[in-house]
Amino acid sequence: MDENKQNINWFPGHMAKTRRMMEENIKLVDVVVEVVDARIPASSKNPYLDQLWNRRPRIIAMNKTDLADPAVTERFKLWYEEKGFTVVMIDALKGKNIKDISRRAVEIVRARRSSQNAVYRADRPVRMMITGIPNVGKSTVINQLAHRSDAAKTGNKPGVTKGKQWIRLQDGASLLDTPGILWPKFDDQATAWKIAFIGSISDGILDTYNLCVNLLDNLKVRYGSRLTERYGIDPSVLQEDGAHILEAIGRRRGHLKQGGQVDVERTCVMVVDEFRSGKLGRISLETPEELTAASAAADAASEAENGPAAGEKEMGAAAEKDIHGEDRSE
Ligand code: G4P
Repeated sequence: MDENKQNINWFPGHMAKTRRMMEENIKLVDVVVEVVDARIPASSKNPYLDQLWNRRPRIIAMNKTDLADPAVTERFKLWYEEKGFTVVMIDALKGKNIKDISRRAVEIVRARRSSQNAVYRADRPVRMMITGIPNVGKSTVINQLAHRSDAAKTGNKPGVTKGKQWIRLQDGASLLDTPGILWPKFDDQATAWKIAFIGSISDGILDTYNLCVNLLDNLKVRYGSRLTERYGIDPSVLQEDGAHILEAIGRRRGHLKQGGQVDVERTCVMVVDEFRSGKLGRISLETPEELTAASAAADAASEAENGPAAGEKEMGAAAEKDIHGEDRSE
């Protein structure tokens, strides 16, 4: 790795407390909605929820679709659906498709109640909570759902932990008014950086220069022409690394200090802001095909290490369970 590049060795504060709150709240609901950022729908998802909410109805809300590459978003939707998730694609800022969340929640919970001959009345409100890592748009989703439904806060209810507020929506759902906050989860630096690019790791702990140089390294591979178009840099600059691209952008924009050196700090802030606000166009930083290839490579490596039996056993077990942990085998 380039000596200028920092590693993200970040561990979220208050993780034990956050986990406790999540575990407490999740007991109160029928369905959990995990909000992810459509630009990185896999990296912005916390697999801890798969363990915690095993065998229960779950919706993935792919938010900020206005900022993501529409073709990639569509492929991710299918990819998650094949894994057994219910997926909705939303733009919470504009409220686009927002009511799909509660509509689908009511649908899947009622279907489950009737198939299980549940003791609950089928029309009992479907209780849901919104979860996700920081900055994916959880509060915006809650506000939109509440606003669009002329919802009423129903206040404390017997049996509900003191202080919990429920928002009664029109379509038969009740929403916990505070989101369940998950922490960003990453096992490798590439994932950590993607989470940082979208602003889900506090910028305070990251060096802006490193953030920007890593972002440019990533963008030049996926969306190089957006950089040349927006900043008027020569396409040959894309052969260089992120640090050189940054220099070229700063120079073209006239971000110069006294003495003619490029003001890299100022240029970094501009590039990161422009990426985050969509000025570079609709961008996705991962694709389902890359994830499938990475997982196949990991399986092959594990097979090489442990022998074919281990690999087959793992795959067999995975095939028999869907994402909620429900056994699908006959
Ligand atoms: P959180 O509760 O998950 O932490 O996220 P929150 O709702 O606070 O949203 C984080 C930022 O993302 C907000 O911007 C919000 O307006 C924006 N946002 C939410 N949903 C969408 C969406 O669908 N599309 C777009 N383009 N933006 C969305 P902010 O207040 O400007 O905060 P920041 O980005 O400056 O941190």
